[in-house]
This record gives sequence, structure tokens and C-alpha cells, in this order.
Amino acid sequence: MSESRTIRGRVLAPHATDRALTLHEDVVVRVDASGRITDVGAPGDDAPEVTRPGCVWMPGFVDTHIHFPQARVLGSASGELLPWLQKTVFPEESRFQDVEYAREVARDFCASMLAQGTTCASVFSSSHPGATDALFAEMDRRGLRGDVGLTLMDRGAPEALLRAPAEAMAACEELVERWHGADGDRLRFRVTPRFALSCTPEMLEAAGELAARHDLPIQTHISENPDEIEATAAAFPEARDYLDVYRQAGLLGSRSLFAHGVWLSETEWDGVKSADASISHCPDSNFFLGSGPMPLKEATSRGVKLGLGTDVGAGRSYSLRRCCSRAYDASKLTGSDTDAAELLWFATRGGAIAMDRADQIGLVESGFDADLIAIRPLDPDADLATLCEHLVFLEDRGGVEEVRVRGVVRWTQDALVD
Ligand code: GUN
Ligand code: ZN
Repeated sequence: MSESRTIRGRVLAPHATDRALTLHEDVVVRVDASGRITDVGAPGDDAPEVTRPGCVWMPGFVDTHIHFPQARVLGSASGELLPWLQKTVFPEESRFQDVEYAREVARDFCASMLAQGTTCASVFSSSHPGATDALFAEMDRRGLRGDVGLTLMDRGAPEALLRAPAEAMAACEELVERWHGADGDRLRFRVTPRFALSCTPEMLEAAGELAARHDLPIQTHISENPDEIEATAAAFPEARDYLDVYRQAGLLGSRSLFAHGVWLSETEWDGVKSADASISHCPDSNFFLGSGPMPLKEATSRGVKLGLGTDVGAGRSYSLRRCCSRAYDASKLTGSDTDAAELLWFATRGGAIAMDRADQIGLVESGFDADLIAIRPLDPDADLATLCEHLVFLEDRGGVEEVRVRGVVRWTQDALVD
């Protein structure tokens, strides 16, 4: 069993903290029965055959921001953020009170992530406990790693999506009890107030208390769109800025993951850094909703923890490779210096750090879980820089061929592995 999990081949290996990668031409990655890498070394006399010749192996992608109940409305172009939420998102998310519908979409959602090489994700569910439980169950069944949150909302949306703080917290407690830390910490519950405009101050405070009580990770949206920012300032007149709304509710800390951050001020970027919080950069979504390009240099110059997010369904694709390509475009528009290798680092190791899983994944090294994927690049002999550019920019050349989580094959190009 353990030998069958061993991989031999070309391996693209992120560095632990430097935003860079190393290309190993031919190594053997040994994996034990629990799915942990035990050794990475040169092939000896007893080395197995190359696994999927012509492919490059690398850590699975980490999607630090994605919405489960938007899986069926990808590409619905109904305007900028606030009108799009009202016209497209809230009506669709209301359908998730039907647990059967949620189960069906969860199957498609998890399969779509695996097919793009995503092995770990930070997911917003709908505001329905039944749908959230169904998503956890499907992620468990498919072997995916990740965090899921019941999306908290008690204002600004149709009645079918609203839940008062006391009831929402009781539902969260049950989900925490059932899923948080499941299967050796493969699954986690993440406290998920949708964004300030969807929550009363009481809801935000209850969310902060819940996170503190169980030491839970947190996720929400911040500073995505100018109209949203203006409305937030009006709704929370006592807050200094958008970040301060979350700070005052106890939602700003080292386990907080904020999506977008397109329009954060210098003071807010400093605040994110000093709290050791993380940013999920969602460039495809930012382009689709016309939110604007996030200035990557604000994060990199401060060393802010950052991962990439598809933000399906404002993002149009489950592919982190496509997301890297869009992040490159956004960097060009904001005078931010980056390259394909650095963006692949953010899409793997950076995401692992942003999701507080730096000790589990994102490195091809002894002691880390073997969440590994095989991609067939255009040119199997390309050097490191060219290989990274092909993986990032040639989106329609060279697909994901195999996906493993903890050494177990969870998807191949030929068939879904149930
Ligand atoms: N802000 C609040 N909710 C959402 C959402 O569902 N998607 C995006 N992109 N931004 C949000
Ligand atoms: Zn989002």
C-alpha cells in the first residue's frame, strides 16, 4: 500500500517562505500509509518507474476563496458587486434551503475543484445548516481538504437567507462539533460573516465570540468595490475604516482571511500586517465585476500573508492557473512586480500559509502530506522559468492528469475516483 503511493518524476517544489520554486529533474517522493511524505531523494537502484512520464508533479492548488452556492451561476453578468448580489446571487443561494439540491450541487462543486487540481479550499457555504453539512459530507467523501463556513447574514438580503444571531450561532456550534478538525484536521469549520453589510453589529460580535471560544479561523470580504465601501462607512459610522469594523467585532487576527482588499488604504494594509491576518487575492472576480485590480505590491512589500482565490461564481473558473494569469494582468495595471513562478507559489504554498495550514501542505518535503498533482506541460523539458510561464499563461495547453490527497488518487483525467 505505502509503495503504491510513491511518486517518481519531475517535481516543482515551492520553498517554505521565499516566494520561489525549485525544479527537481528526477526524484523519488516516498509516502507512508497515512499519506505523509517520508523522503524525497535521488532515485536509487530500487527506484520505481517514472509516474506519468512527461508530467510535472507539484503540490495541489489551494483556493483561498470560493462560494459553494454560486456553482450554478458562474458567468452571470448582472453588473457590479451590489446589484449582482441582489439579482444573481441571493436568489440562487436561497435555493440551498433544499438539501437535495445542495447535495447535487456539492457533487459537481467538489468534482470541479479536483478536475482543476485544487486539493484544499476555503469555502463559503450558503446560510443554511443543512446545505453546509451536505458540503462537508461531500468534501469528506471526495477526500478534499478545506475549511467551510455557514455564511452569516441577518440583514440586507431576502428573508430565506437571513438567520438571527442566536439561531445562527447554535447552528455553527453543531457544525463545529460535527466537522471541525475531522479526519486529522483535514476539514475545519471557518467562521464566515458574509461581509459587514450583511451583518448587524450584534451578528459580527457573535461571530467574533464564536471564533474566540473555539479558536476557529475566520473569513469574510473586505473593500472590494467603491459603492460597497461607501455603504459600509454609512452603516458603521463609529468605525475608522472598513478594517476597523472587523477589528471592533474581534474578527481581526492571525487566523482571519480577508477576500479582495482591492481598495484598502495604506493604514488598513498596515493593520492587516500588524494583526498577521491574510488576504485572498481574487483577480478574475475583480475583473468580472469591474471591482478593480488589487495592488499586489501592497501585500508583497509588507510581507502580508497572501493566497489566491477563484471566488467562484464571480470568478468564472475553478482554475488556480487561470487565477494566476489574471493576477499577473492585475499586477501590470498596478505597477506590481511579479512573475509566473511567484504566482504559482501563492497558489500553493502561499495559500497553505494563508489558511493556517503551513505545517500540513504546500511543500514536497518529508513530514508534509502528499497532496500532489500531475500536470502535462506543453514542453516536458522546459527550464523552470519557462515551465512556470507555460503552466500559468497557456491556460488551454496541458491539463491536470492526476490529483492525490494524502497520497490517495482522488481524480484522474480519465475518470472520477469515487
Ligand atoms: N461580498 C459579499 N458577498 C459576496 C460574494 O458572494 N461575492 C463577492 N465577490 N463579494 C461579496
Ligand atoms: Zn467572495
